[in-house]
Amino acid sequence: MRKPIIAGNWKMNKTVEESIALSNGIKRDLFDIDNIEIVLCPPFTSLTDVSDVITDTNISLGAQNMFWETKGAYTGEIAPDMLKHVGCKYVIIGHSERRAYFGETNETVNKKVKTALKEGLLPIMCVGERLEERESQKTFDVISEHVKKGLADIGKKEILSMVIAYEPVWAIGTGKNATPDQAQEVHKFIRDILAKKYGEKISEEIRIQYGGSVKPDNIESLIKEKDIDGALVGGASLKEESFIGIVKKSSEAVKEK
Ligand code: 13P
Repeated sequence: MRKPIIAGNWKMNKTVEESIALSNGIKRDLFDIDNIEIVLCPPFTSLTDVSDVITDTNISLGAQNMFWETKGAYTGEIAPDMLKHVGCKYVIIGHSERRAYFGETNETVNKKVKTALKEGLLPIMCVGERLEERESQKTFDVISEHVKKGLADIGKKEILSMVIAYEPVWAIGTGKNATPDQAQEVHKFIRDILAKKYGEKISEEIRIQYGGSVKPDNIESLIKEKDIDGALVGGASLKEESFIGIVKKSSEAVKEK
């Protein structure tokens, strides 16, 4: 069975002091959760300090982005090896905000995924359609392109180290989450693409997270869906109480799955 993964993407929020306080609170309250993988993705400036807080706990560290080269004259960029050295296990790649504001494309996403895997980081690769794409019935075309191009040249062994995050852009930060049926439909579609490329058995092992306005009061119905293996949480991961609520409710809900 796939172990669900709940990751908090703090985006461009939290100073070092605030990050230490938040991660300490989360650690205290979630120490006994063992059926959910918990990941915190603070901004780069807080990675080292959050890493110290969560060392030897049930919480892993993730970064929000990285560059596809491993070192050199790339002012302002961060290399995968640097992330590993501060304790990162995961790295979010191709978040829709990076696609929208920083010119990331399926091709750059693919380059980053390949480098991350080569350097020993586990990519959380984000895919998702925009509102106008959903409204013009292009959801499945967009998702298919994001998944196939993002995973170009990724082999069977490598895909097992990856997590896919389905984040419909219209649900991010809007308070309007995809319904469990809408999300499940796309998650199943993604799993079918994976099955065609890697075989049924491997596709059943890959975790597909949902992201977009996840809150303590909607996580249960989402995570109970067959192909929804956790959540990538933005706004609600910035408050101890709501992130803890999401993880605890997930932990209970998956016992009945
Ligand atoms: P919200 O949970 O704030 O909608 O953000 C989702 C997201 O983008 C996580 O990566």
